[in-house]
Amino acid sequence: MKLSSYCSTALIAMATVLLLAPLGCAHIPGLPGPGPEVVRPEQVLDFQTLYKTNCAACHGVNGSGGPAIALSNPVYLAYAGEATLRDVTTKGVPHKLMPAFASCSGGTLTAQQVNVLVNGMLQHWGKHADFAGQAIPTYRPTQPGDPERGQQAFATFCASCHGTNGEGKSANSAGNSLGSIVDPAYLDLISDQALRSFIVAGRPTQGMPDWRSDSTVPMTDQQITDIVAWIASKRTRNPGQPYPSQPHASLP
Ligand code: HEC
Ligand code: HEC
Repeated sequence: MKLSSYCSTALIAMATVLLLAPLGCAHIPGLPGPGPEVVRPEQVLDFQTLYKTNCAACHGVNGSGGPAIALSNPVYLAYAGEATLRDVTTKGVPHKLMPAFASCSGGTLTAQQVNVLVNGMLQHWGKHADFAGQAIPTYRPTQPGDPERGQQAFATFCASCHGTNGEGKSANSAGNSLGSIVDPAYLDLISDQALRSFIVAGRPTQGMPDWRSDSTVPMTDQQITDIVAWIASKRTRNPGQPYPSQPHASLP
């Protein structure tokens, strides 16, 4: 090949590349693209990602099976409702293990992200709640509770699984055992409202029925409130301390 024709071939090739470059413009490895490499945390608006990053550790992967209440339980979602879900996610539960998530309350999520979470929970998990015409109890109790009546209602609705006084049960033939729900250290971790929520919504994946119960009659709102009052009466002033009645030794 002659030098001149080689040069012109090379020139044409180069010109073609230069001409086509702005058209095809594939990403050149190593060079940063036009947008940010990683999405900024406040711009994440995907429900699954937000739920997995912020809530799954306590409320369970896919909304159930964690130590805190199942958020994917349609009974829970119908009972709590949109306003409560938004309020608790925003502000948390003071003095308990539920953190405040909205930036206005010191958390890391924007109001828009809290909305994505609330709408996502209701859309993904809130469907198909059929209570066969039965009215679901209100989120907050409407009357004060009576611990003595609560003990009787506990005997009817709860003792078969949790023991006469809520002390729990050792392993049965199937190997299932239940811990105490009246242990002061446990009660210190949980609010009265959360106890109410467990009674209304149950723990379906673990075999605890909801307020309609395994017995033939569902619990009344008053019975639920009374049971919470009875369990709450087991709270102590110094939970977890071996010598609650000992006064503090004065410092030298
Ligand atoms: C560190 C553990 C933890 C994380 C993380 C967490 N929660 Fe909670 N959450 C709890 C606990 C514990 C409670 C019960 C608090 C109480 O005693 O009232 C709770 C309560 C709630 C309640 C109210 C339950 C009721 O009884 O009505 C809602 C709603 C809720 N969490 C939503 C969320 C959402 C949404 C996220 C993620 C943005 C989240 N939580 C992350 C531990 C957590
Ligand atoms: C059919 C058996 C059954 C009945 C009836 C039952 N429970 Fe439970 N309950 C369970 C099981 C199983 C768990 C799950 C234990 C676990 O989380 O390891 C549970 C968990 C709980 C918890 C602990 C939730 C937590 O993990 O913090 C509370 C509180 C509770 N039940 C209260 C009650 C009350 C009050 C009643 C009566 C209104 C009741 N239960 C009726 C089986 C039952």
